[in-house]
Amino acid sequence: MKKRIQHLSPYKNFPIDVLRLDLMHPLYGGNKYFKLKYNVEKAVQCHTERLPAGKAGSRRAKTNNHEHLCLVTAEDAKRGAESEFDKTCRTELSRSATPNKNDKPTILTFGGAHSNHIYSTAAYCNEQNIKSIGVIRGEENVMANSPTLQFAQSKSMHLHFISREKYKNKTDNDFVNELKKEFGDFYLIPEGGNNDEGIKGCIEILNDVDFYDYVFCTCGTACTYSGILASAKQNQTIIGISVLKGENELIDEVNENALKFKFDKIAPYKSGSINSPTILNKYHFGGYAKHDQKLLDFKKKFEQQNNIPLDYIYTSKLFYAVYDLIDQNLLEQNKSILIIHSGGQQGNAGYEARYKINP
Ligand SMILES: Cc1ncc(COP(=O)(O)O)c(C=O)c1O
Repeated sequence: MKKRIQHLSPYKNFPIDVLRLDLMHPLYGGNKYFKLKYNVEKAVQCHTERLPAGKAGSRRAKTNNHEHLCLVTAEDAKRGAESEFDKTCRTELSRSATPNKNDKPTILTFGGAHSNHIYSTAAYCNEQNIKSIGVIRGEENVMANSPTLQFAQSKSMHLHFISREKYKNKTDNDFVNELKKEFGDFYLIPEGGNNDEGIKGCIEILNDVDFYDYVFCTCGTACTYSGILASAKQNQTIIGISVLKGENELIDEVNENALKFKFDKIAPYKSGSINSPTILNKYHFGGYAKHDQKLLDFKKKFEQQNNIPLDYIYTSKLFYAVYDLIDQNLLEQNKSILIIHSGGQQGNAGYEARYKINP
């Protein structure tokens, strides 16, 4: 898939380019392809390894074939340790019937009614001939107002609705066990595609891209940011724009991956020119999926001037932040800027309907 760079008019002497990941694929472009790529590869591998010898050509002799299927929580994965749940799951899987050779690998993941991750996972799995299950926050009636879920269903994703209360504890072992009982074995991708495989894919975002002094991306879970940071060149400053209300939680999360992905820990921004990698938390506009009139006006004007469509949740806040940081003289003079457009426009129709926005 080809990456495209779009030049914007320089702003106050800053040359600004946009990496249009959103154009890489109409259904799973943006950061989604990168987050899904190695997860899907691993899901297929796990499934293949469970097939009996003689049925699957690529079966490899391995004592812990089921390990990846069992690593279900980000916390477990981060610890790198086998949790109690892993052990139980390993035992259960080794007892379970070997799948028929016609069985498809199954991916289960989580998201809200307008989730870009759900949309793209459904499309990607469908294309790869993989079964997908979306565990969706909310009751089934959210479906009527969700072009995202309607699309996911049209791509054969099985939608499983759970209450908001239950959703909060969605990675608890008991709940995942319940899901296993209901759906059989699956490969679990955490909400937003945020796991080691997701980061591994995002390390490839800057491959074959020229050097820029500043690289900006938007952060939900900061999986994308971690991957970009892990691949940053010397003297390249990677700046994340958080779309969530909060202090430095995302920075802490990124730093937990520092050792494994071999990057230096980042620190919160304090004052003055920004010259080291960080995640800024003052551009969330009230929190996740919130906005104000200033943001809407910016989005409209930017799109008209540059012919680049933005989404409301992630990229509008990202692009707004870059121009605002320049206005406030917080970026070092004469430095080049690359903004990563991570997609998300699929969610605009649902967002506009929800907030009665006339674009
Ligand atoms: C369009 C878009 N951009 C950015 C992000 C944030 O990515 P991350 O969760 O890796 O920080 C998301 C969420 O996955 C997204 O859908």
